[in-house]
Amino acid sequence: VNPERERLLQAYEWSSKFFHYLLKNTEHGKPAMDYLRSRGFNDKTIDQFQMGYAPDSWNTLVQFLTKRSFDLEEMEKGGLLSPRSDGTGYIDRFRDRVIFPINDKNGRVIAFAGRVLGDAQPKYLNSPESKLFNKSRTLYNLHQAKSAIRKLRQIVLFEGYGDVIAAWEAGVHNGVATMGTSLTEGHIAMMKTMADEILICFDGDRAGQSSAMKNIPLLESAGIRIRIAVLSDGLDPDDFVRKYGSERFMSQIIDGAVSTTKFKLIYLKKNHILLEEDGKIAYMKEVLPIIAALPSSTEREVYLRELSSEHQLSYESLKQDCNLIRQTMQ
Ligand code: UTP
Ligand code: MN
Ligand code: MN
Ligand code: MN
Ligand code: MN
Repeated sequence: VNPERERLLQAYEWSSKFFHYLLKNTEHGKPAMDYLRSRGFNDKTIDQFQMGYAPDSWNTLVQFLTKRSFDLEEMEKGGLLSPRSDGTGYIDRFRDRVIFPINDKNGRVIAFAGRVLGDAQPKYLNSPESKLFNKSRTLYNLHQAKSAIRKLRQIVLFEGYGDVIAAWEAGVHNGVATMGTSLTEGHIAMMKTMADEILICFDGDRAGQSSAMKNIPLLESAGIRIRIAVLSDGLDPDDFVRKYGSERFMSQIIDGAVSTTKFKLIYLKKNHILLEEDGKIAYMKEVLPIIAALPSSTEREVYLRELSSEHQLSYESLKQDCNLIRQTMQ
């Protein structure tokens, strides 16, 4: 064992309990509690995800850790405190933020994410990488999701904390999040040992959908099966659950997840004005090579027939163009 690591784990565990207590049992925590309730998180969820509140103070955690004889320099390196700007000691790093503890796969707290109650920037302040926290090997909520993941051999991959939590309330117990960073080789290797399929459920805004698009080849080349949830109107999974409810989230978004090819067809459609001839032709030029690259002729037929009926084009001419592209691909 590494004693510095153990001390930092201890400090995170105690700080996490302290912030959870402040959220639930003090007057200071009330605005944060109201904020979480207004977002639709219920008390059971607040407990289960051990959400907390770091008060609007420079030294609440400094005092808490000092009383427990922690070395403040060590705590600063571990991301719980910040150096005072004049160099004379330390201040609390997380101030006036809702705390989402980040756990390792065994459930030990290794970092915090702190969210502002309003819309100040940065929206989330995270612990820096430390002896405990390696961002590219950490998936949020893996400790609670791992048993469902192993049973279902499937992972539902979200962007953010709120998405994992709202989906959990809706019944998705195999959900984890990359916490806004791009998917790394480390994440992919970890996921591959636990599951055969990944259901990507990213935000319905441009950034989320194009990040889903970007991750398809990475996951495919690792030999993982992929399905993709289609969100639109800029809604993220959390927004969708709050707006339309759990049942519709499960049936429309999770069960309605599509193949990678279908997702590409939907994604690329947004770039074209399909009511104009030019737009329709340009769209076909973009999607036919994707279909032509599919090794199975049955699969090619399925998508060509869909395009045919959706865009009032004959199956024969689409198939002919598709075959021409295939010849140039050999
Ligand atoms: P989003 O911008 O989609 O935030 O970033 P969100 O999760 O929907 O946040 P809410 O619902 O407004 O609370 C997705 C994820 O990217 C990371 C977080 O992990 C966030 O959940 N992120 C985002 C940061 O780390 N820092 C930021 O400032 C913003
Ligand atoms: Mn509790
Ligand atoms: Mn997002
Ligand atoms: Mn989001
Ligand atoms: Mn959100």
